[in-house]
Amino acid sequence: MNVRKIIIDTDPGQDDAVAILLALASPEEIEVLGITCVAGNVPLELTVRNARMVCELAGRRDVKVFAGCDRPLDRDLVTAEHVHGKTGLDGPDLPEPTMPLQDMRAVEFIIETLRKEPASSVTLVPIGPLTNIATAFRMAPDIVRKVHEIVLMGGAYFEVGNITPAAEFNIHVDPHAADLVFRAGVPIVVMPLDVTHKALVTRARNDAFRAIGNRVGTAVAEMTDFFERYDREKYGSDGAPLHDPCTVAYLIRPELFSGRHVNVEIETGSELTMGMTVADWWGVTDRAANALFIGNLDADGFFELLTERLARL
Ligand code: RIB
Ligand code: CA
Repeated sequence: MNVRKIIIDTDPGQDDAVAILLALASPEEIEVLGITCVAGNVPLELTVRNARMVCELAGRRDVKVFAGCDRPLDRDLVTAEHVHGKTGLDGPDLPEPTMPLQDMRAVEFIIETLRKEPASSVTLVPIGPLTNIATAFRMAPDIVRKVHEIVLMGGAYFEVGNITPAAEFNIHVDPHAADLVFRAGVPIVVMPLDVTHKALVTRARNDAFRAIGNRVGTAVAEMTDFFERYDREKYGSDGAPLHDPCTVAYLIRPELFSGRHVNVEIETGSELTMGMTVADWWGVTDRAANALFIGNLDADGFFELLTERLARL
């Protein structure tokens, strides 16, 4: 398998952390060119802290981490401490990071990397609000055609919203950024709540993380123990949904996932449905399909892959 070069754009967040760990544990399939941080689950000063803590947990102080946008394009920032805790990485007791944050800004890194790397050789993996990606596309439209693919976590259709009745958090926080990205013409794979709510860290799966016996397995078990209480209370679900790792798992084993190429447009007009991903699942319009909208996964296969890879760190 060719190694896929990726940029992870993230707002850690416990599930972001697991996605980053899975990517760093899979060098045969994935080369992480850099991690660009964005405000989302918690403010930017915490997402840049958390991203570096996760890299150090993985023993990867060499990874380049960049600070990005600290607020959405045209709206006030909405955060999710009620889900992720006040630090955004509540659960494990991890040391403060000592690895450096890069001087270059995240948007500049995205632009420079896409200009420098061969066309269609870089995949963008946004797992937070799309502010950095949209800003880079706005500042440097020439890079849009250089992107191989965008594999993002965000949106919802049959599963409806998690931050409002209509919208999923990542898209709701910056709907204008999402609208720009979904209209950009880059091939997009969407991991919406429709599939991520089927990736639940049941007690047995959490026990399997602990049974790995390394500090990564223990930390991930502690993260998901903390992270799950919100979804248990709200949905009565049988564990925390591992939203963001679905993107990285797709890069490694796409056969674990299934979906449909459909048109997806973003609500940016009505406050009632702001940030809703309107997926034309039944093809009732003549709007061109612009996204592979994933609806299902082999959950056991997903957790087997994740547990096996975390054991490598
Ligand atoms: O709605 C789930 C998404 O919002 C995940 O990316 C989670 O980390 C939060 O950012
Ligand atoms: Ca996230």
